[in-house]
Amino acid sequence: MRIRRPDDVQAGEITPPALYLRRRELLLGAACATAGALLPDVADAEAPPPRPLPDVRPGPFGTDEAPTPYRDATLYNNFYEFGTDKKDPMRHAGSLRTRPWTLSIEGEVAKPGRIGIEDLLRRHPLEERIYRLRCVEAWSMVIPWIGIPLGDVLAHFEPTSNAKYVAFATLYDPEQMPGQRRGVLDWPYVEGLRIDEAVHPLAILAVGMYGRELPNQNGAPLRLVVPWKYGFKSIKSIVTIRLTRTQPPTSWNVSAPREYGFYSNVNPKVDHPRWSQKRERRIGEFLKRDTLPFNGYAEQVAPLYAGMDLTKNY
Ligand code: MTE
Repeated sequence: MRIRRPDDVQAGEITPPALYLRRRELLLGAACATAGALLPDVADAEAPPPRPLPDVRPGPFGTDEAPTPYRDATLYNNFYEFGTDKKDPMRHAGSLRTRPWTLSIEGEVAKPGRIGIEDLLRRHPLEERIYRLRCVEAWSMVIPWIGIPLGDVLAHFEPTSNAKYVAFATLYDPEQMPGQRRGVLDWPYVEGLRIDEAVHPLAILAVGMYGRELPNQNGAPLRLVVPWKYGFKSIKSIVTIRLTRTQPPTSWNVSAPREYGFYSNVNPKVDHPRWSQKRERRIGEFLKRDTLPFNGYAEQVAPLYAGMDLTKNY
């Protein structure tokens, strides 16, 4: 992955957390529908802010760390379908059409099927989950996601006892995603989880962030968020979820197997060949901080890996 150093982010791109926090109170209160006009940090952003999502309840596993300013979370992205520069997704993801959008659930399920994004939103209550996101390039953010536990979505399609893994695929459409005309990765972008990871209550399908629908550059209308793993596991703009008997391929593992394993749990003890994983820079901060095992979620997820050698299963 190409890297633009976080300290290259212009000071003017950074919104003080206090602004976001004030806005969040508005969004989570009754003022959802009218909050847009009052939000200078959102209004400043290059694309018009997405629609507010009403009826979001606070979810578990929250952190009291200050969320990353909205502008940084939407101007500094990895979404290679729109280019490899951190600002390319913000510049080019406007060509992605996120409605109508259908998610297909296939493979080892008793009731395979397709569901439109609007029906998905009607079927499942939405929760806000404020999670740390740690990228393998050694930067991190704190994002107030809005989403649905992935396990709840899968349960509806009734996984069979043969379902050992879950494979995800992003939309493939070079007309909407011009980066797919270049061979930087095999397209479509694919990712995978073991089934027990997928149904862990921390794993969500995110449909929004900062009180609103997802901006295109962040993976609209539907992306995975698995906060104890490096950011690249959180696959964006998902169209297919397939439950499988065997471990599915993942884009970065196929592209550079020595650098990116299947598990990709955040682990300060296992360095990436090009980036130390011991410390990280929180976007918007100057000093680096220590990276925590499983990105600080060890209490919740370490038991999933009991008995495994995590230096081999990186
Ligand atoms: N999903 C797709 N389809 N394509 C991508 O290039 N990049 C990944 C991940 N999901 C990527 C993707 C990487 S490397 C990271 S760090 C996160 O998305 C970044 O998410 P963010 O831009 O919302 O911070």
